[in-house]
Amino acid sequence: MKIGWRQVLIGVFGVPALALLVGWSGLIGVGASSGHWAVTDWFLHWVMRNSVRTAALSVTAPPLDDPALLPPAAGHYEIGCAMCHGSPVRDPVAVVPHMLPAPPDLAPVISTWTDEQLFQIVRHGVRFTGMPAWPTQVRPDEVWAMVAFLRALPNLDAARYYELSGLYQPPMEGEVDDLPLTCESCHSQRRLTSHSIVPSLAGRSEAYLLESLKAYANGQRASGIMQVAIGSLTEDTFAELARYYASQQRSQRTEVSAETELVDRGRSIAENGRAKDKIPACLSCHEKPGANPVYPKLAGLSQPYIERQLKLFVEGVRGGTSYSHLMLEVAKNLEEDDIAAVAAYFAQRDN
Ligand code: HEC
Ligand code: HEC
Ligand code: HEC
Repeated sequence: MKIGWRQVLIGVFGVPALALLVGWSGLIGVGASSGHWAVTDWFLHWVMRNSVRTAALSVTAPPLDDPALLPPAAGHYEIGCAMCHGSPVRDPVAVVPHMLPAPPDLAPVISTWTDEQLFQIVRHGVRFTGMPAWPTQVRPDEVWAMVAFLRALPNLDAARYYELSGLYQPPMEGEVDDLPLTCESCHSQRRLTSHSIVPSLAGRSEAYLLESLKAYANGQRASGIMQVAIGSLTEDTFAELARYYASQQRSQRTEVSAETELVDRGRSIAENGRAKDKIPACLSCHEKPGANPVYPKLAGLSQPYIERQLKLFVEGVRGGTSYSHLMLEVAKNLEEDDIAAVAAYFAQRDN
């Protein structure tokens, strides 16, 4: 058949006009109550799986077997995901099954996705479904921790979930087993080890803690985990929490071990900097008696936490207090092995 100008005009103007007319008529139902037809349901999920699969082709998972990734991700799952997807200790909240599509129970579906695909879903969310994106796009490290947790999720029983998330409610008879997750669930000194990626807060400077909380709240410092954890707390509460943690005694650590050579290299940078690479002495700002209290003390922080923060400074995505530009300036000249060295040095220092 020959296609003439008449058919072309109908195609170009007629079809969109008809689509607009149908849309305007109000005949397309948007109610969630009647559900999708089975074929629509299948089609939408098929499109979603294909989209995720293609997007994940350009992503490569880092190693995810470090157990230290699990506790903060489990805590975040409890506050940010369990209300929709349920968990080993709770059902989704009552309105959720009436969403369209209803958020699935994740335990049986995790094995149908690769790590890279899970990363893609959790980082970007799923449009038109209610599945939210990660609160910040500049912290893929946090999203990977969540992927590590999702991998573990199908094999978690209630006891292990309580332990990992820090909900800490060994359900005892007659006791309410529904206390919410708190700051202590993640930051309690009893839960932190020299491998933790959650920072220790005990005995840190009150000014630094307060400014950091404000920075998370106003988005100056990007962390999906902390942004969700402080939720709708007010500045008055921040001040109380900062005072509380600043007044806590830091418990003595026991198991810090690092190669002496690495620690020595770190000490040299900390004490003298390295002039030829424009790296100043870290100790000219940190741990210095009488320094600005917003310059944080690093004693008591773990090597993995220090390394992660330094990498964020190097990438230029670690904001914070109104002094964070000083640290961005310092970090941009640090090489990867300098980071390992100074982290090893500060992690074994006691004050
Ligand atoms: C407001 C409810 C809601 C919250 C909160 C939520 N999700 Fe979802 N999630 C959904 C819905 C709805 C889907 C189904 C999307 C679809 O079928 O295309 C989904 C799908 C998923 C999937 C893909 C499962 C599959 O096979 O279809 C994963 C993985 C997932 N969510 C993980 C998470 C994680 C991790 C969090 C917390 C960081 C989270 N979700 C928070 C609603 C939610
Ligand atoms: C789900 C786990 C979790 C919960 C709950 C949580 N935090 Fe955090 N917190 C973290 C992690 C992880 C970081 C590191 C974030 C980053 O990379 O910036 C952090 C960082 C911080 C920092 C910055 C410390 C530093 O050395 O810069 C402060 C202050 C803080 N949290 C206070 C709190 C307070 C107060 C609460 C309770 C309202 C709380 N956190 C709840 C996991 C948590
Ligand atoms: C000119 C002063 C200055 C120098 C020199 C400096 N820092 Fe910092 N550093 C800061 C300030 C200010 C912050 C707080 C940034 C914020 O959160 O706003 C900071 C933050 C940090 C943090 C994050 C702490 C936390 O709890 O999250 C680490 C780790 C750190 N510095 C390591 C170093 C190392 C290692 C060196 C030496 C190579 C160094 N700093 C040199 C000023 C400095």
